[in-house]
Amino acid sequence: MTKAWTKSDWRSKPRVQMPEYTDAAALAQVEAQLSKYPPLVFAGEVRRLKAQLGQAAQGKAFLLQGGDCAESFSGFSADSIRDTFRVMLQMAVVLTFGAKVPVIKVGRMAGQFAKPRSAPTEVIDGVELPSYRGDIINGFEFTAEARIPDPARMLQAYTQAAATLNLLRAFSTGGFADIHRVHSWTLGFAEADKAERYRALSDRIGDALDFMTAAGVNADTAHELSKVDFYTSHEALLLEYEEALCRTDSTTGLPVAGSGHMIWIGDRTRQPDGAHVTFARGVQNPIGLKCGPSIQEDDLKRLMAALNPENEPGRLTLIARFGAGKVGDHLPRLIRVVEAEGANVVWTCDPMHGNTIKSATGYKTRPFESVLREVREFFAVHKAEGTIPGGVHFEMTGADVTECTGGLRAVTDENLSDRYHTACDPRLNASQSLELAFLVAEELSTRHEALKKRTAG
Ligand code: PEP
Ligand code: CO
Repeated sequence: MTKAWTKSDWRSKPRVQMPEYTDAAALAQVEAQLSKYPPLVFAGEVRRLKAQLGQAAQGKAFLLQGGDCAESFSGFSADSIRDTFRVMLQMAVVLTFGAKVPVIKVGRMAGQFAKPRSAPTEVIDGVELPSYRGDIINGFEFTAEARIPDPARMLQAYTQAAATLNLLRAFSTGGFADIHRVHSWTLGFAEADKAERYRALSDRIGDALDFMTAAGVNADTAHELSKVDFYTSHEALLLEYEEALCRTDSTTGLPVAGSGHMIWIGDRTRQPDGAHVTFARGVQNPIGLKCGPSIQEDDLKRLMAALNPENEPGRLTLIARFGAGKVGDHLPRLIRVVEAEGANVVWTCDPMHGNTIKSATGYKTRPFESVLREVREFFAVHKAEGTIPGGVHFEMTGADVTECTGGLRAVTDENLSDRYHTACDPRLNASQSLELAFLVAEELSTRHEALKKRTAG
């Protein structure tokens, strides 16, 4: 028999993308403190999300995961949480209408603070400093002092995550999420200039809601119409934080990451014998695994065996992020591994991380057209392979930022400097996010027809 997993097993494994804390005593003190704090999420919620993702693996639900690339301490406000939550609900209604199945809503929120970086240092005007690694680790400001990893930042991240979750829980059940209200916001978008293409779908949703009301189905008779399940997720990069928030589920006696409902492993930290996989394999939460162009078939096989040895539906979500024009080169070879293994996975598409470019004006950006193109390629490959596109994963915000180019209220290269606020990668703004939802809904209508035929046949 193999030795039972413990939450500190990762410490003896090779680690990448993690900070070297210089003050070991300060680190130990923070870890001890966090270990005593309540978990941010509860085991029953985690199990419920896993069951819902199990449905997505079979095409009976669809995953919408989205939020900031990096949450920041300075960008923290009730308004920004509300706005992102609101646009995700709007997107979910549109996607539900297209997919004809429930949409599982998972924010990159309440814990998305730690960032893997492509280079360990950054050079500005000849000055070289350690890279910024997210507010839970060091400061964004370009000074030697700010860039020193400070363990006390974990406490601030925890506090911010707790306050974020508190607000999200209130929004989810307190009337804010009423489907009629959510749709009324969408009407405003679809009635705007240049949005003709989206008006018909929006009107059909309005008709469906009117019909339900007439038939006596309203928020008083059907509570599902006035509240939603909303889950949180983040990249489990900073393992000291993850370990300190790991708890035992009192119902099952099994370990659960208490830092968020779903955690994922990044494309740079998915070494099968590395620290991050070692941590994630032992907790019961749904796990996401980013799959970029460098992932080999054998890696995927080993990772699936490590992360989901029981082949439990909903446990593993594969987040494909190849870049527009490259999906056809990589997704089919990975789908074939999954099919050959008979593995239960949710396939989702992250059309953000393979499509980052530098604009002519010097900003890191992502063209809306490339994002959309990658999503379409993802759906097309699944159609050709006879497999199920199970969700989408976006970097987005409810705020009116100018970070990605394109969309119907077109952001141009020249506009990028107007409201470029991201702490890391460029995000879709509210209008771009909703527009994308309408376009994905068109793909999902086709998916619905195909799945219907399959069950009938
Ligand atoms: C991210 O999701 O912000 C990220 C860094 O992604 P990836 O690991 O896929 O590059
Ligand atoms: Co990112």
